[in-house]
Amino acid sequence: MEYVRLGSTGLEVSPICFGTWRFGLEHEDSGVVETGREDAHELLDALEERGGNFIDTANSYGGGDSERWIGEWLEERDREDYVIASKCFWSTVSRFQENLSKKNVKAEVEGSLDRLGTDYLDILYLHRSDDDTPIEHTLRAVDDLVSEGKVHYVGVSTCDAWRLVKGLWKADVNNYEAFTVTQPEYSAVYRDPIVDDLDQPPEHKEPITEYLDVCEDQDLAVCPYSPLHGGFLTGKYERADDGSVRGPDGSRADIDDQFESDYVAEAAWSVLDEVRSVAEEVDATPAQVSLRWLMDHERFTCVPIVGARTVDQLDENFGAVEVELSDDQWERIDAAIDA
Ligand SMILES: NC(=O)c1ccc[n+]([C@@H]2O[C@H](COP(=O)([O-])OP(=O)(O)OC[C@H]3O[C@@H](n4cnc5c(N)ncnc54)[C@H](OP(=O)(O)O)[C@@H]3O)[C@@H](O)[C@H]2O)c1
Repeated sequence: MEYVRLGSTGLEVSPICFGTWRFGLEHEDSGVVETGREDAHELLDALEERGGNFIDTANSYGGGDSERWIGEWLEERDREDYVIASKCFWSTVSRFQENLSKKNVKAEVEGSLDRLGTDYLDILYLHRSDDDTPIEHTLRAVDDLVSEGKVHYVGVSTCDAWRLVKGLWKADVNNYEAFTVTQPEYSAVYRDPIVDDLDQPPEHKEPITEYLDVCEDQDLAVCPYSPLHGGFLTGKYERADDGSVRGPDGSRADIDDQFESDYVAEAAWSVLDEVRSVAEEVDATPAQVSLRWLMDHERFTCVPIVGARTVDQLDENFGAVEVELSDDQWERIDAAIDA
């Protein structure tokens, strides 16, 4: 597998990052944990066997279990072989500090390092925006962490284009460490940079075009999250006669009441049709074509953060590395959202 340079960071990463949001995630209704400790370690073993070296987690995933289990797994490995990204915003220690204050950012990074059993994070993302804390305060805290060697690179997750530019500008004028990596929700069916407003229907709210223009111009790597749109782009969901989404037992749509409203807008079905037809042409699966479409963005480095609940899913998703799309096939998928 050919490794990819992550934008201007110089980090060499596998072309697919593995996301661990579902490690330790307990479903409120059933109390069932989606991916338990043993399964998490099995998935990480499978990732290693396939050459994956890029792992995405967050302080808040599984109430800290995601980082804890990754830390246990890393104990028997060479830390230097892996690129570990984590995030801060939500607090794991105080109900008063759900924000990007200096206090919260510093405490949460210390917590992440402790749970991961490591001295440093390769990438620290700001998980959400915090309009009540001046961004200079947050950047100053992050800059300290970089100077102390506890964080190597700084990224920003869900935010809109103007906030991204403001963060870059404030870092520049204050000589603070600037963002080099971004993590928007982005896939063949999801083209908005922000998801915070869950009251809005999942249609086009604010096109991501401008955000991606900034990434290209500023040489920021893009690591899209939910690149399979929560599993929708695997093609395992069908539209029932009443318009609702039907999926296999145990799938995310089956266990998550929000799936349909959060993930499936009308345009999603047209995109899926196009992805399915390209998949047939190149003898690959819809999941592989959807990931390849992201990886083939030429304007910036694009490394999708894919989730997998089973080793078979992980295998299928890593198969995207072998898939080739023609320019015409890429453009058909690109245009399908407007069909
Ligand atoms: N920054 C943020 O705010 C943010 C938000 C969300 C996620 N993330 C990051 O992005 C990562 C990925 O997010 P995601 O889980 O939503 O991504 P995704 O890759 O779009 O969806 C993953 C889900 O799709 C299903 N799936 C995956 N591969 C499959 C396959 N080959 N065949 C059939 N089903 C398959 C599985 O669910 P089922 O089998 O259960 O259906 C799996 O859990 C997270 O782990 C996290 O690291 C970040």
